[in-house]
Amino acid sequence: MKETILTGIRVNSELTLGNFLGALVPMVRLANKYSKDYNVNIFVPDLHTIISDVDGDIPSNTIRSLKYYLAAGLELNENIHIYRQSRVPAHSELCWILDCTASMGELNRMTQYKEKSEGKESVNVGIFNYPVLMAADILLYSAKYVPVGEDQFQHLELTRNIAMRFNNKFGETFVLPVKTSDQVKFMNVENGIRIRDLLNPEKKMSKSTAAENSKIMLSDAPERAAKKIMSATTDSLGKIKFDMFNQPGISNLMQIDALVTDSPLQDVISTWSGETHYGDLKAKVAADVKVFLEEFQNRLANIPDEEVLRLLEAGETYANEVAGRKLAEVQKAVGLR
Ligand code: TRP
Repeated sequence: MKETILTGIRVNSELTLGNFLGALVPMVRLANKYSKDYNVNIFVPDLHTIISDVDGDIPSNTIRSLKYYLAAGLELNENIHIYRQSRVPAHSELCWILDCTASMGELNRMTQYKEKSEGKESVNVGIFNYPVLMAADILLYSAKYVPVGEDQFQHLELTRNIAMRFNNKFGETFVLPVKTSDQVKFMNVENGIRIRDLLNPEKKMSKSTAAENSKIMLSDAPERAAKKIMSATTDSLGKIKFDMFNQPGISNLMQIDALVTDSPLQDVISTWSGETHYGDLKAKVAADVKVFLEEFQNRLANIPDEEVLRLLEAGETYANEVAGRKLAEVQKAVGLR
C-alpha cells in the first residue's frame, strides 16, 4: 500500500505573487517529487470555507485555484487525487463521530479558534468544530504527511491526539499523521518562504494590504507588476547583501527573482552580492517578473474549465471509495454496524 500525502488548499478569490510562490509552488514541487511513490491528495476544504461569509462564489473560485496548480506545473498522474470536500459526505459523517470523542476543553484551547472568536458576541459552531472536520479530512485517507503552514500545526497535533484516543478506545482504526517536527523535515525548507510586502518589506506580502504597490497579484498586467518592482522599498546601505533582517527589501527582491526564474537562491545571491547599483537588480527582477507573469497568464488562459471538472470527478470517485471504506470501518468500531 502506498502512503498518502494530503493537503487542503484554501481557495481564494485572488492570490498574491507571495501566496503563489511561497505556498502553492512549493506544494506543486512536493507533489511532483513524490507522486510516483505516494498517493497525493489535494483537496478543496469547501465546508471549512463556509465558517465565514464567502468572498466570491465557491465553484468558480475552486476552478480558478485548481487551474493555478496546473499552470504552476503540477504533473498529473494516477496517484494525484483532486477533490472537493463537500462532494465526499464521509468527511462530515466522520466529523460527527469524532465530535463524540473530542472534548470541549481541547477545542477551546485552539489558537485559531481563540483568535477568530475573540471579542465576538456570537460565534458559529463551525468555527469551534473546524479542527475536528480537519481531523476527519486527514484520518479518512490514512494520510501520514500533511504539508500545511505553521498556523495549522496545532490542528495536526490535535488530529494525532484524536486518532490515538480513538484507537485506544475502539481498537486500531486510524493511521496517525507523523509528528509536526517530522512533517517539517518531510516538507523541507522551501515551505518557509515568505515573500515580503514591496513597500514595507518587514511585513509579509498580503492581499489585504490597501496599497496596490505593496503587492503583486497573479492577475496583474505584467507591465504593471514590473513597475511595482521598480518602486519597491530598499535601504540606504548601498551594498547588496542577502540579509532579511537588515536589508529585507533587497533580499526580498533576490528571493522573488530566484523563484520566478526557478533558479537556486544561492546562485542569485552570488550574482548580486557586493554590487552597489540597486537599480540594476530591480530592473532585472522587474523584467523576470514580467516574463513570468506573461507565461503564467498564458498557460492559465489555455486551461479549459472542463479539464478541471474532469479531474474533480475522477478524484471524487476515488475519494468516495477510500473514505467510504474507512468510514464503514469506523462505524463498525464504534458499534454502529
Ligand atoms: N485548515 C487548513 C488551512 O487553513 C485547510 C485544511 C482543511 C486542511 N482540512 C485540511 C489542510 C486537512 C490539511 C489537511 O490551511
